[in-house]
Amino acid sequence: MLAFAVSLLVVAAPQEPAAEAPRVDFAKQIAPLLLERCIDCHGPKEQKGDLRLDAKEHLFAADEPSVVPGKPDDSDLLRRLGLPADDDELMPQKGEALSKEQQQLFRAWIVQGAEWPEAGDTWLREQLAARVVPKITFELPAMDDAQRAKLAQAVQRLQALGALVQPVAADTEALELNLSLLRDKADDALLAGVEHLAPRLVWLHLGRTAVTDASAGTLAKLTQLRRLQAQHTALGDATFLAMKELGQLETVNAVGSKLGDAGIAALAQLPHLTRVYAWQTQVTSAGGLAAKKQAPKLDVDLGDYAEARLAAAKKEVDERQQRNQPINTSCPVADKPIDPQHTVEHDGRRIAFCCGKCKAAFVAEPAKFLAKLPPK
Ligand code: HEC
Repeated sequence: MLAFAVSLLVVAAPQEPAAEAPRVDFAKQIAPLLLERCIDCHGPKEQKGDLRLDAKEHLFAADEPSVVPGKPDDSDLLRRLGLPADDDELMPQKGEALSKEQQQLFRAWIVQGAEWPEAGDTWLREQLAARVVPKITFELPAMDDAQRAKLAQAVQRLQALGALVQPVAADTEALELNLSLLRDKADDALLAGVEHLAPRLVWLHLGRTAVTDASAGTLAKLTQLRRLQAQHTALGDATFLAMKELGQLETVNAVGSKLGDAGIAALAQLPHLTRVYAWQTQVTSAGGLAAKKQAPKLDVDLGDYAEARLAAAKKEVDERQQRNQPINTSCPVADKPIDPQHTVEHDGRRIAFCCGKCKAAFVAEPAKFLAKLPPK
């Protein structure tokens, strides 16, 4: 019955459209097909054949729109959906052809006036936004051919030595260099030449490597660096003072390094720095406070909270041990020296006895023996 109604529409005159056809809901029925089958090639990313199908204005603004409202047979879009499998112009150009029902849906939509309500645009926009993988973008300086050649050479050398060098995301030239996997094989000699990566190097991971302050000069040239991990290295203030040129730096992990108060003061001058991890360093609480005062946006993490937590835990253990310590040295029942194996907790205190029998006697009638215990 439905197929019959739709096929009637095909021959219906434009003046009497769709009277009996179920109304096509663009947002619910057409937009999902466009999204799934067309928009990869006709959307924000690519506009094959100069066609965009992700918003009403794109489709109908064309000189010769491929959809002519009310005129399915003048609509190139519809024609293409029904072409034979070996026709180059068949759409979609990838995957299966649309089913007969899906083609009829497009036809009915066009016959009914190819309405594309605001809700359709909204739905498509939301779907596309949800699909977009968060992009990591960086503004990086232009490079000439000589710089590019040097960079490529340096990357090759580092990779040959076992370093991990790779773009930080799919559509960026920005690089991360991770030497931490090499541990102490990554030393100052290996780092020499890393400055050729400078125009693209945004993340550097030196954690637990053997790099020292002898590399300060090299590190100071990495002006595009956003993230530096230097935890558990011998890097000290000679290096951190040299970093005042690294104007893009956002985070520094210096845990277990030789960072000191002078170094943190230098880092605090960097305009984009928001976080320094600095516990197990030589930074004092006064130095940390001074840096924070100098740069209110900067979070200097000295791990104080970790120390406070440790202290609290230690206190609790001490107290618990205290509680487990018997309060008496002589058995309240037999007046003999106590054996710490036989104890009982009574009224919040641990009481010891010389033997199991005495303990049993006490448990049966504590009041009888309390006078022999130290006063509370
Ligand atoms: C894998 C990529 C791809 C997919 C998916 C795809 N197309 Fe195309 N489309 C193309 C290419 C390439 C062209 C340009 C070549 C041509 O005109 O045949 C094109 C052209 C068109 C044109 C003609 C544009 C013009 O005005 O010249 C229309 C209409 C069209 N596609 C509709 C669709 C529809 C509707 C869908 C989804 C059902 C779709 N396409 C899916 C690749 C694709």
